[in-house]
Amino acid sequence: MASTFFDPDSELSHPAALDAKGYAEAYRRSIGDGEAYWNAEVDRLDWIRRPTRFDESSFDEADFQVRWFADGLLNVSANCLDRHLDELGDTPAIIWEPDDPSAASRTLTYRELHREICRFANVLKRLGVKRGDRVTLYLPMIPEAAMAMLACARIGAIHSVVFGGFSPESIAQRIVDCDSSICITADQGLRGGKVVPLQANVAAAAKLAPSLTTRLIIRTADAPLVLEPGEHEYAVLVADVDDDCPPEPMNAEDPLFILYTSGSTGKPKGVVHSSGGYLLWASLTHQTAFDYRRGEVFWCAADVGWITGHSYIVYGPLANGATTLMFEGVPTWPTPARFWEVVDRHQVTTLFTAPTVLRALMREGDHHVTSTSRISLRLLGSVGEPINPEAWRWFHEVPGGGRCPIVDMWWQTETGGGMIMPLPGAWPQKPGSATLPFMGVEPVIVDGEGRRLEGATEGNLCIVRSWPGQMRTVWNDHERFFQTYFSTFRGLYFTGDGCRRDEDGYYWITGRVDDVINVSGHRLGTAEIESALVLHPAVAEAAVVGFPHDLKGQGIHAYVILNAGSAAESEQLRQWVRKEIGPIATPDRIQFAPGLPKTRSGKIMRRILRKVAEGDFANFGDTSTLAEPGVVDALVAQRVA
Ligand code: WTA
Repeated sequence: MASTFFDPDSELSHPAALDAKGYAEAYRRSIGDGEAYWNAEVDRLDWIRRPTRFDESSFDEADFQVRWFADGLLNVSANCLDRHLDELGDTPAIIWEPDDPSAASRTLTYRELHREICRFANVLKRLGVKRGDRVTLYLPMIPEAAMAMLACARIGAIHSVVFGGFSPESIAQRIVDCDSSICITADQGLRGGKVVPLQANVAAAAKLAPSLTTRLIIRTADAPLVLEPGEHEYAVLVADVDDDCPPEPMNAEDPLFILYTSGSTGKPKGVVHSSGGYLLWASLTHQTAFDYRRGEVFWCAADVGWITGHSYIVYGPLANGATTLMFEGVPTWPTPARFWEVVDRHQVTTLFTAPTVLRALMREGDHHVTSTSRISLRLLGSVGEPINPEAWRWFHEVPGGGRCPIVDMWWQTETGGGMIMPLPGAWPQKPGSATLPFMGVEPVIVDGEGRRLEGATEGNLCIVRSWPGQMRTVWNDHERFFQTYFSTFRGLYFTGDGCRRDEDGYYWITGRVDDVINVSGHRLGTAEIESALVLHPAVAEAAVVGFPHDLKGQGIHAYVILNAGSAAESEQLRQWVRKEIGPIATPDRIQFAPGLPKTRSGKIMRRILRKVAEGDFANFGDTSTLAEPGVVDALVAQRVA
């Protein structure tokens, strides 16, 4: 097999649960007789009423729905806590590593976490939170973030976690969209020694979001809290609540959470995940893809504000009785050795991170890695964007010491958990390929007209049938759910990603084919950045595209047309976007453009803008439909100057 790298037969230190034959057999069953397959798999969860109905989904417009296990009853927090108490009560559930390496880390056993979550749930009840209510979370990476999520799940409230790097405007937008009346936050967050003013950001958001009446504040710093009306201190309320909080029986299809994510158009969408199917998918993929074994320490170095944190810091590992590590800090602070020091300190077995982190660490030199032991590592994982083969090799050879397979897991906020990834031990890996589909996942590659392409080919990645972890709807906008994902190619879920399949049947994700860009593994809609720019009084029009960036994967290039007679500095506009959306959306480049290439019907030709941003001035393709062909030359002239 050309360019094969990791060979499980010779390199895996002990056999994984599934070998190539085991996988092929399980995959065949999952596709050929899904009902029998899922009927067996549902037993990995504890049901109050075991489901007798399985996949009832249809991707066709006439009877469109996504539904699994519809007569099942369960509680997600009981699955992540109560059922483990007899066997794993004294086992660490969460190990917390603080931002400051000299501060004490914290360990919570399953028994301790169970108690904390019951108490947290009772605090929420005390504040009037009921089943079905939406609870917004805006928290740093502290154990209370996981507790708040599971406390919501315990009483059947729906959490909506907003990433701690988002601005007050972005928080308010998400609160308004799901009509949430309570937000749980902290006085501050710490990242790389810098303070993030979380409480103040939520206070500013509250002014823009009238539904938000209650703010619950967790104190993390030494200074006493200063509370405004509507703010409550968590430590005060929790002091006299009961340790007992019975888990609320929930239908498998009841929403567990909403997570906002960027798409090609408009404002971020509230992706809704279910209780039963989502948890089953998070648990099954965590166990299988990471070949998880009892007693191991699993570290997913994402933030709980993203789907990766939901599925692989909180729900997947805790459903499986694993020990999950939560890291508050950043990989490069105080030194670029931090990740590997954390691995050694807590004897981490599996490290799941993002290519952008690897590229940043690679640049700092191998000595930061080789000064540590890392002998506890058995598996590595990569997620969020395509991993370039150079980063893959470095990850495998230097941090992994050539011993650890790399689980390059392709998935999306919408899919709930991993979809295409190498199962360690099942087959040889190729650097940069997400390899083969997971159980129950049937990918197809289609051309622009939706025709299925066979064999070695390249095109648009779609999924043929539903899987349990699939999102159920867009909050409050079921029509948008259908339009966004199922109307481009009839009868198929369209991922928005391009993909190549090689002669061995391996899948290689080539990146987004829509107007979503991926900056350091963070997903951003170009439309959102454009909307933020045109809010500036000097800006008449804006068009944003991604361009290849050595560290971030993609950078943000904004073409801006100013209003006649207006002036603005590029730094001013960069700061403006930063304030409107958050630091992750700050444009790398602002190009003050004399005009934009548009078709005669007024549609911006982004293909051309992408080429100009990439510095590829030779291949503009057909420009004959442009209203003003001279605009392209002017844009190129600016870039060359
Ligand atoms: C990209 C993150 C290549 C892809 C879990 C997808 C990847 C988007 C990979 C979803 C991977 C994620 N290889 N590309 N292993 N993982 N992507 O919703 O473009 O934040 O559509 O979910 O990230 O980003 P999201």
